[in-house]
Amino acid sequence: MYWQRHRRGLRLTLIWAGVLFVAYLFAAWFVGVNDGSGNMTQVSPATATRGFFTFFPTLLRGVFGSVLQLAVGVFFGVFQFVAIFWFMSRGRTYTLFPGEYDLSFDDVRGQSHIVGATKEVMKLFRGFKEFKRIGGYPPHGILFEGPPGTGKTLLAKAIAGESGVPFVYASGASFAAMFLGVGNLRIQRMFSKARKYSEKYGGCVIFIDEIDAVGASRGGQGGGGGMMGGLFGGGVGGGMGLVNELLTQMDGIDAPKRFRRFVRRTFKRGPKQSSNYNILVVGATNIAATLDPALLRPGRFDRKIHVGNPGEEGRKDIIAYYLRKVAHAPIDVDRVARATAGYSPARVKNIINEALIYALQDGRQSLTYEDIWHAKLTDEIGLVEPVEYSSTEKAATAIHEAGHAIVSHLLRPWQPVQIVTVRKRGETLGLVHSQEAAESYGRTKSQFIADIKVSLAGMVAEEMWLGESGSGPSGDLQTATSVAFSMVTKLGMGSQLASFNLLANGQENDVATAMRDPQLRREIDDILQQCKREVRQLIEEQRPAMEALRDALVERDELTGDEFLTLLWQTGAVAEPPKILAQLPVRNGNGNGKHPAGFPGIPEEEPVAWGRSSESRSARGGTPFEFGGDE
Ligand SMILES: Nc1ncnc2c1ncn2[C@@H]1O[C@H](COP(=O)(O)OP(=O)(O)OP(=O)(O)O)[C@@H](O)[C@H]1O
Ligand SMILES: [Mg+2]
Repeated sequence: MYWQRHRRGLRLTLIWAGVLFVAYLFAAWFVGVNDGSGNMTQVSPATATRGFFTFFPTLLRGVFGSVLQLAVGVFFGVFQFVAIFWFMSRGRTYTLFPGEYDLSFDDVRGQSHIVGATKEVMKLFRGFKEFKRIGGYPPHGILFEGPPGTGKTLLAKAIAGESGVPFVYASGASFAAMFLGVGNLRIQRMFSKARKYSEKYGGCVIFIDEIDAVGASRGGQGGGGGMMGGLFGGGVGGGMGLVNELLTQMDGIDAPKRFRRFVRRTFKRGPKQSSNYNILVVGATNIAATLDPALLRPGRFDRKIHVGNPGEEGRKDIIAYYLRKVAHAPIDVDRVARATAGYSPARVKNIINEALIYALQDGRQSLTYEDIWHAKLTDEIGLVEPVEYSSTEKAATAIHEAGHAIVSHLLRPWQPVQIVTVRKRGETLGLVHSQEAAESYGRTKSQFIADIKVSLAGMVAEEMWLGESGSGPSGDLQTATSVAFSMVTKLGMGSQLASFNLLANGQENDVATAMRDPQLRREIDDILQQCKREVRQLIEEQRPAMEALRDALVERDELTGDEFLTLLWQTGAVAEPPKILAQLPVRNGNGNGKHPAGFPGIPEEEPVAWGRSSESRSARGGTPFEFGGDE
């Protein structure tokens, strides 16, 4: 059979061998052969034939030895290459088997609607066979999307604890590799592992954390292929091949099992290729918008769950949950929840932990509300730096902050002042920190205008009391410009309705574009100039309060919200006395009390916090506090 198939090749080989042999005989006869001493001696064809067959076994041995050496070399070369690739393609994936993880959905607090939606999917996943039997197909994937620290990874951990099937997990970044194709191998391995578990355990969950590292849109990513491609090409973004691999693995044709295929083809029997794997892919990302649209279509990540910051009720639950884990004095959870509005669960957890550290540093074994308050302040406005200002610098900072504080109080009654300080924190020489009194999710035009005016108030105060303003207002101007820019170019509050939001460049470049447009620039500047004029008038009317606040700040460095309100009432700037009267020095800095070092005192009932903002006096060349504070 074999000989028949290769008859032509064999014949050709024999003919060529004959031709070569005859050529050798002729060459030996006419040209000669080497006689061993370097001379050529002509020999007859008979002698040449005899010589050939005497020499042939030696030749054969030599050839065989060389071939063997070459084969061993090639084998080790290939073996090394294969070993390196095998090692590199070993996925950095880990597996948790049922019962190996002790977290459950009960540990995800304050996000009951999200937990509910996830449980629904898990129910369908577990009832896979039943659901398929009646003609449906369960979700293939859930994508948790949302800002940092909201509990996306925690939800995945809860799934690991409750799914009852193996949980294979990897971080998106672990698929990036130096060599093109290695990342694809890792994805393939992870899915084939999952298919194996699915057959054995009736299902498997794959979790890819920070999935944007591998699933970024094919339209706009670097790495992989192209000019820089070739052998090297994984890079950040994973390369186009990784997304494609993920797409096919999640909803493509399953790779056939070789052994089964062999049995089926040889013996014409055996099970058909199965497409019945029960695999749920869970992804988590902060930026779902960058993911490839094909990943988000039904059949892949068919459930997209937005995981956002919890509301007040949710926060209470989270606070109570974490307080239960630490030693603490009786604490009003509602009060902590109000003070931490807008916080992510991770931030709430961190505040409680920091509070415990304060308590321990203070030699106590349990934390109090005061510790939480201090931890919150440090989180929001930073640590005080032990820097002494000159008296001129301190007075300048004090009048700057007095401008912010008083204008903020008069124009933003919904956002009470929490602290006025002239202590250095990072790049800010002093700051006014305020927080909204109720959770709100939108803003009006007059609120934007008020924000701009509060930002400009520090500069106006410097001009009025010092005769000129310096580097202090640089951050404030940036904040005010940014708000005016948004009003004119994105919120339809200027002369044009066209939205800059459609520019794909991101805010920095949008601002540059607007700044190059003389008309838009004039409009933005007009808003700022108008606001500045009105602020000047307002501050002019508040001279006594401004000076009293300046002096109080020079004297005490820091005033809490209550102290600030008491002072405004004492100076007649407001008619109503504050709900809580603070102990204050007599007007114009003839103070009677020393303020405790470090942190300001804790107000009796601080305002509920949602939107925050910190207006500050910048250090030379310092970066400003962002508009809207730290959220
Ligand atoms: N709902 C919650 N209940 C209790 N703790 C939570 C909750 N959400 C988050 N946490 C805690 O906050 C921390 C951060 O959560 P997690 O890692 O899940 O955030 P994430 O959304 O994955 O953030 P990132 O996007 O930065 O990865 C964890 O320690 C977690 O225990
Ligand atoms: Mg995470």
